[in-house]
Amino acid sequence: MTTPSTQPRRRIVELATRAPSIHNTQPWLWRTSSAGLELYADRTRQLGAADPVGRNLTLSCGAALHHAVVAAAALGWATQVERLPQGPSASLLASIALTPGTPSDDAGADLRAIDERCTDRRRFTSWPVPDSTLGDLARAAASRGTRALPLVDVTERFHADVLVGRAAENQAGDQRVTAEHRQWVDHSRVDGIPSAILPAERSSMARAQNRFTTGLLQDRGRDVEGSDGLIVLCGDQDDPANWLAAGEGMSALWLAASAQGLSVVPLSQVVEVAETRDALTRQVLGGLALPFILLRIGWQPISRSELPRTARRPVTDVLDPP
Ligand SMILES: Cc1cc2nc3c(=O)[nH]c(=O)nc-3n(C[C@H](O)[C@H](O)[C@H](O)COP(=O)(O)O)c2cc1C
Repeated sequence: MTTPSTQPRRRIVELATRAPSIHNTQPWLWRTSSAGLELYADRTRQLGAADPVGRNLTLSCGAALHHAVVAAAALGWATQVERLPQGPSASLLASIALTPGTPSDDAGADLRAIDERCTDRRRFTSWPVPDSTLGDLARAAASRGTRALPLVDVTERFHADVLVGRAAENQAGDQRVTAEHRQWVDHSRVDGIPSAILPAERSSMARAQNRFTTGLLQDRGRDVEGSDGLIVLCGDQDDPANWLAAGEGMSALWLAASAQGLSVVPLSQVVEVAETRDALTRQVLGGLALPFILLRIGWQPISRSELPRTARRPVTDVLDPP
């Protein structure tokens, strides 16, 4: 069997590092293997206060896994992925076997989506996201083995809005969580979130939608939320296998949204706080599924300025580090 030389693996990992991650912690480590690549969770980068079980960490790694698979296909490598080959509690999250193939038909568009995807927390325009588009995005996520539910019913959207606000308030009163948030804003040149891309605080409503309230980016105007699209990713068990699939699904949804010019902002606080997670399960999901992440989806104004990309750690730090 032909295994790739170092160069394509470096390039695949480099593209995978563009994946979104909680607070841009980039909680992943990659190792080359005889078959291709292995993805490990880097638990030294887990958020102890906001994410003690590692749900967001695993979602982030799932997004990186999906980015790697898409990048490999675009570069002409077929992939075979084994998830959690050493069981749910091991740090090894996935093994990817790489075999030479031909670049995917959508290679150019996929690489562009990886490059252009970002978290743009500025308010959306009031153009509604059609239900059919939300359905398509939910299907893109579900194709990766997670459940994805668009919230289109007025009552369930109302409950979700209220719970998002309550979770933000709850965390604002939790010193460990707020200290952790602060720590990851302007954390370093290679990780964390620069305050320059976080909208400045505008109103209590904006505060509820934006966990980072210390931003410097001026984003004045009317708060819009009635037209936001909402999709919740969920599953039967609150466990690493489901979180990994949800992360892959989130990445698939996000790249598909980016390709259409749609903006996606994860709202994870409502799942991080036990009380609002339980209420979301009961009031919005009818007790039929467990939520992993809520995604807000909408259109940014055509005239918006480009946001600088958040930084990433160099490949040498995340692929076969010493
Ligand atoms: C699991 C997960 C949870 C996230 N939760 C939030 C959130 O609650 N609020 C928010 O503004 N951004 C959230 N984000 C977005 C990250 O902050 C963002 O992906 C990271 O800073 C990297 O920036 P980029 O997406 O622009 O590349 C989340 C991302 C992931 C993967």
